[in-house]
Amino acid sequence: MIIQQAEKLNFVSEYYFSLKLQEIAKLNTEGKNIINLGIGSPDLMPSSNIINELNVSSLQENTHAYQSYKGADFLRKEIANFYKKTYDVELDFTSEVLPLMGSKEGIMHISMSFLNPADIVLVPNPGYPTYTSVSNLAGAQIRYYNLREDKNWDIDFDELENSDLEKVKIMWINYPHMPTGATIDNESYIKLIELAKKHHFLIVNDNPYSLILNGKPKSILAFEGAKEVALELNSLSKSHNMAGWRIGWVSGASEYISTILKFKSNMDSGMFLPLQKAAAEALANSDFLVEQNNKIYAQRRALVFEIFDLLNCKYSQNQAGLFIWAKLPENISSSEVLVNQLLQNAGVFITPGFIFGSNGERFVRISLTSKPEVFEQAKVRIKNFLNKN
Ligand SMILES: Cc1ncc(COP(=O)(O)O)c(C=O)c1O
Repeated sequence: MIIQQAEKLNFVSEYYFSLKLQEIAKLNTEGKNIINLGIGSPDLMPSSNIINELNVSSLQENTHAYQSYKGADFLRKEIANFYKKTYDVELDFTSEVLPLMGSKEGIMHISMSFLNPADIVLVPNPGYPTYTSVSNLAGAQIRYYNLREDKNWDIDFDELENSDLEKVKIMWINYPHMPTGATIDNESYIKLIELAKKHHFLIVNDNPYSLILNGKPKSILAFEGAKEVALELNSLSKSHNMAGWRIGWVSGASEYISTILKFKSNMDSGMFLPLQKAAAEALANSDFLVEQNNKIYAQRRALVFEIFDLLNCKYSQNQAGLFIWAKLPENISSSEVLVNQLLQNAGVFITPGFIFGSNGERFVRISLTSKPEVFEQAKVRIKNFLNKN
C-alpha cells in the first residue's frame, strides 16, 4: 500500500473467526477434514413458502429498482405484527421500525448515529465482540460490565450502580445472551429502564436468539417506559435460518429511528424488494418453522451435552439460543489451550470463550448448527484423542 490505513483501524483486529477459518482451511488442504462446531450459522433451510416468495417476486419486472431507504410499508407492517404476536409490543409501523441488512450492521448504524469520542459505551463481558469493535470504530470509550457465572450471567446491578455512569451514552445488552445462553427476568429489564432514565443513556437490546430454545420470548420494549430509553435489534438470521440473506431490523421510538435513518440513508440504499417480500412472508407465516427448528435443536443439544461430558466440562441445562456454553475442567489452563488441542489432535473446532471477553476465559462454546451425524463423528474423534492421552 502506498498509504497508511486509517488510525481508527488500529483499534480493531481481523475478526477471530475470519483468522481461524483460514487456519481451518489450511488444515483441510492438508487433508485433516476438520469438523467445525464453532460458528453459529444455521444449517437448516428456511421454509419453502419463504423461498417461493423470493423466487416469485424476483421473476417480476418491477422488483429490481432501488427501494425506499426506510423499507417497504408491507414489511414494516409485518414486523409490527410480529412484535405484537410474539412479545405483545405495540409498534407504529410508520415510524418505529427500520429494516436493516442484518442486526450486525444495526450495531454500526446505532453507534455511528449516537456516539461522540468522549462517550462511554457499556459492553457486556462476556459478549458479542462486535459491540467492542464497533464502539472502537466510532471512537467511543468502552467500559465492560461483568456478567459472571456465579450470578447466572445476570447483570450485577450493585456493581453497575456503584460505577460512574455519568458519561455513559449507550449500554449494550443481549438476552437471550450469546455466548452464555442466559436469559433475563422481568425485574432486571425494569431495573435497567429505571437506571437508563436516571443516568440518561440508551439501552440497546440485541435480541436475535429470542425464538431459539427459549421458553417465553421477551422484548425489552414490552416494559413500561422502555421506548423512552431503549431500542431493540432483531433478525431473521437465526430464528428463520436466513443468516446469509442479511435481514434484520431495529425497533423503538420514532426519534431514535429517524436519527438512525439519517446515518443509514447515507450509507446504503433500501433492501432488494423480493428479499423484503420474503422477509414479510417469514414473519407472517412461519410459526411451524420455528417450532420445527426448536425440536431439532433440542435433539442436537443432547449430543452437545455428551461431547461436553466427555471433555469433563460443566454446563447449565437451561441455556437459550443457538449455542451451548460450558466451563473447562480445573486441569485445563485456558479455553485456547483446549480449543487448540482439539483442533490439532482431534480435528474438531469449538469456540474458545476468551474471544467474548476475560470472563469467558475458562469457557468454551459449541454451536447447535451441525447435523447429528457430525456431532456423533466429533464424539468419536474426541474419544479417540482422549484415549491416547
Ligand atoms: C449476539 C449477536 N448479535 C448479532 C448478531 C448478528 O446477527 P445478524 O446476522 O442479524 O447480523 C449475532 C451473530 O452471530 C450475534 O450472536
